[in-house]
Amino acid sequence: MAPRKIIIDTDPGQDDAVAILLALASPEDLEVLGLTAVAGNVPLDLTSKNARIICELAGKVDVPIYEGCDRPLGRDLVTAEHVHGKTGLDGPDLPDPTMALKDGHAVDYIIDTIREQPSGTVTLCPLGPLTNIATALRKAPDIAERIQQIVLMGGAYFEVGNITPTAEFNIYVDPEAADIVFKSGIDIVVLPLDVTHKALVTKPRNDAFRALNTPVGIAVAQMTDFFERFDKEKYGSAGAPLHDPCVTAYLIQPDLFTGRYVNVEIETSSELTRGMTVADWWGVTDRPKNATFIGDLDADGFFALLTDRLARL
Ligand code: BDR
Ligand code: CA
Repeated sequence: MAPRKIIIDTDPGQDDAVAILLALASPEDLEVLGLTAVAGNVPLDLTSKNARIICELAGKVDVPIYEGCDRPLGRDLVTAEHVHGKTGLDGPDLPDPTMALKDGHAVDYIIDTIREQPSGTVTLCPLGPLTNIATALRKAPDIAERIQQIVLMGGAYFEVGNITPTAEFNIYVDPEAADIVFKSGIDIVVLPLDVTHKALVTKPRNDAFRALNTPVGIAVAQMTDFFERFDKEKYGSAGAPLHDPCVTAYLIQPDLFTGRYVNVEIETSSELTRGMTVADWWGVTDRPKNATFIGDLDADGFFALLTDRLARL
């Protein structure tokens, strides 16, 4: 089967970095058409810089990278340096990138690519706030029916929230954008905290990255070392949750994951529960189903896939 064409929309972030590395290491499964940077974990100038740092680390300097929206649709940007550090990619000491950003706006790149490629052959992989994707859908509604699938990291139901008691960071930052995406009618798969909090980099898993003894393996070990401080302190968990790599792993090996096709609505008006993903997991409403909400994964299988693929870079 031909590899699946994807655009990764991202706000790196250590976990975004690992998600991108996994995709770049898997050409038989995924053809990375391009990366689009969005403001999220850190401001846009840093996320677009980090995206280039990661591609250079992987030795994939031909991947087109575009800068997108520098703030949410109608709100001030909220960032997460408390989790990811000042650069967004704290941990390893990686060189500044030399590859250039592509000219043009990420939103136009997304629109043009979806229009140019055969209908139903491009999958969008959002790993940050949904601002770029929603802006593209608003500007060019015709692309909705041409998108094969959107596989995104965001939201939570059983785990409720990480940035507030009720909201996950990516959805919280731009709930209006998320609302547009979830109402778009596009086939959506959601990797929420419910599953990503089970993808924990325990000590033996971190050791396995380091034991690759390659620049990529060592950098991933250092990134996840840094990134784990926050969750260990907050949740008392065994290591860093690899949120965003769940997206690229799902695309490569979906049978590692289980979930339910349910209705998911986004809270946009309440200040108390802003950005909450109200998932009708138990089917108690007759609201139309619009997303596959993943709840569980085979964590050992996930880390075996990840370590095996990273070893190729
Ligand atoms: C999500 O927020 C960011 O901090 C991570 O990169 C991930 O995409 C987890 O809530
Ligand atoms: Ca992210």
